Amino acid sequence: MDNTPLKTESFNNSKFTEEELGLKQEKNQKLKYFIIGGLILAVIIVAIVVVVVFITKDRKEDEEEKRENRKPRSLLEKLRSKKTPYYYYNTTRLNETITTLLDLAKKDNIKIHFSLKSNFNEKVLKFFQNYPDIGIDCVSGGEVNYSLTQGFPHDKIVFAGIGKTEEEIEFAVEKGIFCINVESFEELENLNKICNKLNKKMNFGVRINPNIAPHTHDKIVTGSNETKFGIYIDECKDEFYNKIEEIFFHTNPNYNNLNFIGLHFHIGSQILNFSDYIPLCEKIDKYIGELNERKIVIAYLNLGGGLGVDYDEPDLHPIPDFKGFFDTYLTNIKSLQKIGPNFNNNTKITLHFELGRSMIAQSGLLISTVIYVKRGIHKNFTILDAGMNDLVRPAMYGALHQIAKVKDENDVSDEKETYDVVGPICESSDVFAKNYTMDKLNKSDLVMIKSAGAYGESMASRYNYRKLVEGYMDYELDY
Ligand code: LLP
Repeated sequence: MDNTPLKTESFNNSKFTEEELGLKQEKNQKLKYFIIGGLILAVIIVAIVVVVVFITKDRKEDEEEKRENRKPRSLLEKLRSKKTPYYYYNTTRLNETITTLLDLAKKDNIKIHFSLKSNFNEKVLKFFQNYPDIGIDCVSGGEVNYSLTQGFPHDKIVFAGIGKTEEEIEFAVEKGIFCINVESFEELENLNKICNKLNKKMNFGVRINPNIAPHTHDKIVTGSNETKFGIYIDECKDEFYNKIEEIFFHTNPNYNNLNFIGLHFHIGSQILNFSDYIPLCEKIDKYIGELNERKIVIAYLNLGGGLGVDYDEPDLHPIPDFKGFFDTYLTNIKSLQKIGPNFNNNTKITLHFELGRSMIAQSGLLISTVIYVKRGIHKNFTILDAGMNDLVRPAMYGALHQIAKVKDENDVSDEKETYDVVGPICESSDVFAKNYTMDKLNKSDLVMIKSAGAYGESMASRYNYRKLVEGYMDYELDY
């Protein structure tokens, strides 16, 4: 018998053999099942997705409805929802503060650098990024790195500090920050060496110590010649101006990578008496004049920070006097008024400020719980769960932050008592306020320590092996 497969051509004119035809049909069958299976699966997936969407939508609507119907939580309820002690930042006040500041700054093309040392809470910094005009003032390589990783632009970062290491300077130069403010001749040489090594150009300003002591706490004065800050040029004028001349006009090619742009001052912090700035303005005019005599013009005048806040009556004066502060400089630095089309080949001086305290102090509270009210022989002590490790300003500078009981709206009691309000740390300086008269307190009451947004959380420590204090934005406590 002839087993040769029949030529299919003889039946249907096709070129396939029967076997091939069988295989093809089988394949088609499989494809059909595959498509049908796929379609069923797709229908099932779509159905599941639809159901899930509906359920979550319903749930969301339910939640929203519940939220809408729910009585808003009182401040006390909100503040009780987190474990004390912690810092609490009021974004409404912060927004009001920053908007007031930036509106004023814009008018005179003033550049604002937030002084990171006053508060480096990540969420506060995120909030600042809503205002793209804000740059950062750093005093360590760590701060420069942190500012960059937090998303602040490199060309809005200034870097001061008397003890910058080579590693820190190299990092800042490599990252191309806007300006390094040098505080000694030694640092200047170091900066130059590093710029030459990296073959990178760098803007720099010189921090001058004008020998002016403002009226503030001794520990936060930085502008008198007794302090370690800046170059006290009154006693080394020639050396200073000769060096700047060499750099500015590039008469010494060794300094070709350095770009001298101007001067930096910061005479102290928590200054409320603006007349303290008048002798500073006179000195600034003198220095600008001396530079101009040598045909050196500056484009950058960094006046540091220093604007004080009202720690005594924070509720009465929540927004610092930015206008008075700027106006003091703008009207008393006479060189600024000379700036016009004919001044110094049209060179304009841009004012920069590095504000810390004034931007954040009044927007922060330290929230704490009363652990005990201890009745002593001659006085009563309120012992809080917050200590000097959480807010060191009272222990370190004798600073007084106003303290208030957080009251429920139904709490109409107005009985007062006088306490030494203290923390739990084993140090006799762990005292927030002595002989302080306030609403009567009981165990478990909540208190707020006011004006604590600046140099509060950033100076906290783990002393007594305590947990590092947390910081929350108000919106985190809303629900
Ligand atoms: N720029 C430089 C170079 C500074 O040294 C400081 C603060 C500022 C700007 C920001 O100053 P502000 O605007 O905050 O006044 N821990 C102390 C304050 C120390 C200030 C140190 N320098 C306190 O709690 O009062």
